[in-house]
Amino acid sequence: MDLRTKFLYLKLAFRLGMLRRPLFYIGTFLSFVIIRIQALLKTKKILFPPPNTIISVTSRCNKSCSFCHYLPELNGSSSVDLELKIEGLIKILDSDAVSRFGRVCLYGGEPLLNKDFFDMVKELKSRNYFVTTVTNGLLIERYLKELEEFPLDLMTVSYYPEDVEKIKESIKKITKLMPVNISFVLDQNSQNKLEDVLIYARDVGADMVTIESLREVDFCERKSLNEELLMEKKSRLIKEFGKDFILRWSSFNGEKEKSKISCIDFWDSVFVNSKGELSPCCQYPLSSYEGSLNSKAESINSKVMMDLREKFSKDIVPKGCENCHYLYGCDPLYKSN
Ligand SMILES: C[S@@+](CC[C@H](N)C(=O)[O-])C[C@H]1O[C@@H](n2cnc3c(N)ncnc32)[C@H](O)[C@@H]1O
Ligand code: SF4
Repeated sequence: MDLRTKFLYLKLAFRLGMLRRPLFYIGTFLSFVIIRIQALLKTKKILFPPPNTIISVTSRCNKSCSFCHYLPELNGSSSVDLELKIEGLIKILDSDAVSRFGRVCLYGGEPLLNKDFFDMVKELKSRNYFVTTVTNGLLIERYLKELEEFPLDLMTVSYYPEDVEKIKESIKKITKLMPVNISFVLDQNSQNKLEDVLIYARDVGADMVTIESLREVDFCERKSLNEELLMEKKSRLIKEFGKDFILRWSSFNGEKEKSKISCIDFWDSVFVNSKGELSPCCQYPLSSYEGSLNSKAESINSKVMMDLREKFSKDIVPKGCENCHYLYGCDPLYKSN
């Protein structure tokens, strides 16, 4: 990591108020260390709940992106009834499977469609979590007042070319209230948009940009990109934009060795839905949620989770992880410039 990137991370740390909450960040750091040690040792059981909690607050969405891995499962007949409510969130947070430190990400579907979204942010902030969300940004303008009152610690806004101009002014307002990460799914078709994304991120004042590789799905013909074809462009763009924001790249397809799995999601994260069921990862279908938060043996150390950890420790790719670009990434927290 070069000096310029270190400076950008330091600037972000200030924005996140790390100096105002040293004890919380020390606790979070320690739980990350413990999890990393368990991941290195490839333990089947984990001792403590992971420091990353990702909560699926809705399976409704106001878009229908052709490449979305959840697409066939969104907006089902029971989506509204199964939406997470504030009481449900409190139950989840009080359970033994969820860490008292670290990050909670409100995920979806489109999380801002959940009417309890800001009550949840308020509750999470009162418990000192590092609160994040991932949104398509279409409802940001409607909720500007609430976002001002209850800012998140980090908001990821996905860059969808068809929407970005109409939400640009609201994103500019949001970057003044909280750190913003612009996320872009790069594939063979969207390569020519890469520069537009980075110029847009600079215009709106984003703190971070994440370039994600497409995970191919069988109902969409879009194809993922080869790492080798990206190399030259990537180093030019890092030079040009690396001074403006933190630029992170996921792994892309390539010829590099693919034998050692380096993803640590099964140790480091827990994915929960409104029924208190768990999923191994956000890349798994919504129908993969099962078990319950009632005990560690039914949740973070369920047979399903322990079998998955065992497979990873033997470098066997489980069915649900096939084609996932996180599998062999050199750093699950991504390479930055
Ligand atoms: C499932 S969406 C949910 C949050 C919100 N609706 C949004 O679009 O930002 C979370 C992220 O996953 C990304 N995503 C969806 N399908 C994907 C795929 N097949 N490959 C890679 N990323 C994908 C989206 O672009 C988005 O950034
Ligand atoms: S906006 Fe997000 S959840 Fe909705 S269809 Fe697109 S990627 Fe999927």
